[in-house]
Amino acid sequence: MSNLDDQLGAELDRARAEGLYRALRTVDSAQGPRIVIDGREFLNFSSNDYLGLANDPLLKHAAAEAIEKYGVGAGSSRLVCGNLQPYEELERRLASFKGKEAAIVFGSGYAANVGAISALVGEGDVVILDKLDHASIIDGARQSGATIRVYPHKNLRKLEEILEWAVGAISNRDPNLSRMQFAPTNVRRPRILIVTETVFSMDGDLAPLAEIVALKETHGAWLMIDEAHATGLYATNRRGLAEAAGVEDKVEITLGTLSKALGCAGGFVVGSQTLIDVLRNRARSLIYSTALPPTVCAAAAAAVDFVMSEEGHQRRDQLWRNVSALKNGLSTLGIQNESRSPIIPIIIGDESAAVETSRQLCERGIFVPAIRFPTVPKGKARLRVTVTAAHTAEDIAVFLAAVGANFIRDPQTVKQNVRPPHQSALRTGRVSIADHSYFVTACIADRRPVFAEDGAARIVIGSLRWLRDQEKIRLLGFVVMPDHVHVALALREGWTLERVMQSFKRHTSRQIHRSYSVGANCIRDPHMEKVATESRSYEALWQHSYHDHLLRDRTDFEKRLAYMHDNPVRKGMVRHGQDYHYSTAHADYQNEIDWAWLEGGRE
Ligand SMILES: Cc1ncc(COP(=O)(O)O)c(C=O)c1O
Repeated sequence: MSNLDDQLGAELDRARAEGLYRALRTVDSAQGPRIVIDGREFLNFSSNDYLGLANDPLLKHAAAEAIEKYGVGAGSSRLVCGNLQPYEELERRLASFKGKEAAIVFGSGYAANVGAISALVGEGDVVILDKLDHASIIDGARQSGATIRVYPHKNLRKLEEILEWAVGAISNRDPNLSRMQFAPTNVRRPRILIVTETVFSMDGDLAPLAEIVALKETHGAWLMIDEAHATGLYATNRRGLAEAAGVEDKVEITLGTLSKALGCAGGFVVGSQTLIDVLRNRARSLIYSTALPPTVCAAAAAAVDFVMSEEGHQRRDQLWRNVSALKNGLSTLGIQNESRSPIIPIIIGDESAAVETSRQLCERGIFVPAIRFPTVPKGKARLRVTVTAAHTAEDIAVFLAAVGANFIRDPQTVKQNVRPPHQSALRTGRVSIADHSYFVTACIADRRPVFAEDGAARIVIGSLRWLRDQEKIRLLGFVVMPDHVHVALALREGWTLERVMQSFKRHTSRQIHRSYSVGANCIRDPHMEKVATESRSYEALWQHSYHDHLLRDRTDFEKRLAYMHDNPVRKGMVRHGQDYHYSTAHADYQNEIDWAWLEGGRE
């Protein structure tokens, strides 16, 4: 008997210990905003079915008709006898939808990336990837045999450096680059191919397409864009981000999937007829794989028609309304995100903590699995929240209530959601602190709306009182958020941040016999220290703080005002440069903290 099970079992044990073990859950219903798992209905905030088409009667009808006519299987690869009529029809519609000469469909988005990249570049070429490109892009680049260079996420300066290096290496025939040419140089010049996602699948942010196009033009490179999460969603014709950026004609190779907004399965590439002919001749994942079932092609063709229709336009607009509602709700809860898409990550950091948060949401009937390494870097585990056009306002409200009540704002989470200087202060825990020269904002969270419940309010007020009474701590003020309270402290000589936190934690765990968490961030910005020292004002400190909620546009600002109007918090809004800040600090000095208000504020 071999020791295979022992060896592999040990690997699985390690994955379990690191919070990286993956298991499949069986869903007993169609995809949609609600799904059934183990007999229980969950609100689903994890699907890429952005337009809610996966279970749409229109698509089902098209699939049913195709099944009657063509059966269920394609029988072989398309190049043998699997190229059934629904394929041809789908490719015609995809080319017309994307405004390109031709299209070619693959069995999946994954197969499209692997097949296309490895068909277009090879040994002696250079392929340049964004650090956060999808696994299928990386695998395509690896399979191609081309030299791979990776630039830090959206870092244009680094991309330019790599392009300059690649141009030099290719023209000087760098021996590391080209052991063997793919074809004689008189028929084939070495190639430089940049591949980027347009909407990044795990962060929901957008590639700077116009700038990438400018760089690739200057350096004579080709650009391939993966519009998996943009197709059907962006720009007037819903073609994607290249249309929104006005660069469609400058992009050589455009990839999309049928599996996300189009609600089906499969991947495709669109571009010039020559490009598509080359892929048909060279893409191994197309040539050596059985064609998609004809039913899927028929359903996908119906989805393309729908997206191009007026109804498709309206559905897309509904999606963006839902995205705004969800993002605004999260930011009201103090959860920051930079997403510009229906993908809204909540970074947790630690893998096991992410799994635990996801489990807690599941208990409340919300399905959002934890995304962990290797899908995202180690220590960047997250809940990848996605919202679709099919969610109702009530679904979103239920989701926000569950997150507000459950989101664990522990130090790890706080660390992941604030900007770097404070993280390093937290990490070292060795901060020299003199009275008034150093400020800490601590975060008291009880995983539930602070003032919604008497018990939660009591906990927070008790902790604030304790802080106020400590000789070594000067309590400067606090800010009430829906589910937590930020506290600003100045520490007296000889106390380290670590010591404060330990002592605070000891105090809180003695006082409170239930789950409770505390985090801290340090403000070390010399400018902020100056502001705070000169004005000796918490209000001033807060206005300059990194930690308040930066509201970058007026709508957000007004929404926040409305929120505050309806809630028992004091108002203090300021405009600082281009940004709107809000502050709910109560007082500049300890003596002026309005305890009576605070205690009455929970009604
Ligand atoms: C950016 C990106 N490209 C390609 C793919 C692969 O698509 P498919 O799921 O259709 O294989 C995905 C899907 O996760 C993706 O996010």
